[in-house]
Amino acid sequence: MNTQAQKLKEIVDKANVEHNSLKTKVLAITSGKGGVGKSMIASNLATSLVRRGYKVGIFDASIGLANLDIIFNVHTDKNLLNVLKGECSLEEIVIKIEENLFLIPGESGSEIFNFESHDIYRQLIEASDFLDTLDYFIIDTGSGINQNVQTFLEHADEVIVVTIPDPTAITDAYALIKIASLLNENLNLIVNATENEKEGRFIYERIAKVAENNLENPLFLNFLGSIDNSRIIAKSLKLRSRFTKSHPNSIASYQLNEIVDNLIFQLEHQAPASKQKNSFSLFFKRLIESF
Ligand SMILES: Nc1ncnc2c1ncn2[C@@H]1O[C@H](COP(=O)(O)OP(=O)(O)OP(=O)(O)O)[C@@H](O)[C@H]1O
Ligand SMILES: [Mg+2]
Repeated sequence: MNTQAQKLKEIVDKANVEHNSLKTKVLAITSGKGGVGKSMIASNLATSLVRRGYKVGIFDASIGLANLDIIFNVHTDKNLLNVLKGECSLEEIVIKIEENLFLIPGESGSEIFNFESHDIYRQLIEASDFLDTLDYFIIDTGSGINQNVQTFLEHADEVIVVTIPDPTAITDAYALIKIASLLNENLNLIVNATENEKEGRFIYERIAKVAENNLENPLFLNFLGSIDNSRIIAKSLKLRSRFTKSHPNSIASYQLNEIVDNLIFQLEHQAPASKQKNSFSLFFKRLIESF
């Protein structure tokens, strides 16, 4: 660890001692292949959690491509990198989408870990102060598995892998699961754009079986559920709305809510050891320690 990272770690440690609301659950939503519905799931998962009374932050860590800002229909020209560089404060980049729902525009380039300015430390503490008030912090990682995505997967409380029934997406999902299982032995799967529930479960069982037969390390692959191919979803994304809001009684919303029920159940029944992973400042600390 370099001296700057060491200094930052000390400050974050101090902030942790001063903090008493260490409870933020970090969820990482990821996929092998792009375009499988991660941002659609992240935004609607966030919306469903907010409806249940939770305070939720959603962090767009995908590079380049406009993503969550489009879905939420907001404009951003600054992101977390600008905060880390000391060019603006976190308050200036956090976008309040609605009551209890905040978007943090991210940037997954490795530049984010080049701590250059002393201002960064102050900014990060501010960041963890705000983010520790959240119940859930959802990271839309973007597709593929670069070093930063791996770091997010390693330190998240729950990793959610998304795939679609397409054979190349399944192959890519499996390749991702293989690497992710080295980082986190609890993984969750959502099968998106299915014909029906049966297809989703069938794909889960196939992936789980291949994993069981081929992976050397232990892996608990939990099936969170499937979301059918839906005109409402496609239309909502075009209209820049979220189907869980615009069509709360649709099949898509029902399926998404079942996924949220399963996710909450999964979080409540985790092994006690993994429950220590629970605040943004701790999350940041874990990120820093791994560099
Ligand atoms: N269940 C579904 N039914 C119909 N269309 C869907 C469904 N899920 C996703 N889509 C469509 O697929 C497209 C990709 O979805 P989304 O942007 O959420 O994927 P992504 O995994 O975030 O992509 P990227 O890897 O580029 O970030 C969207 O335009 C959306 O219209
Ligand atoms: Mg996306």
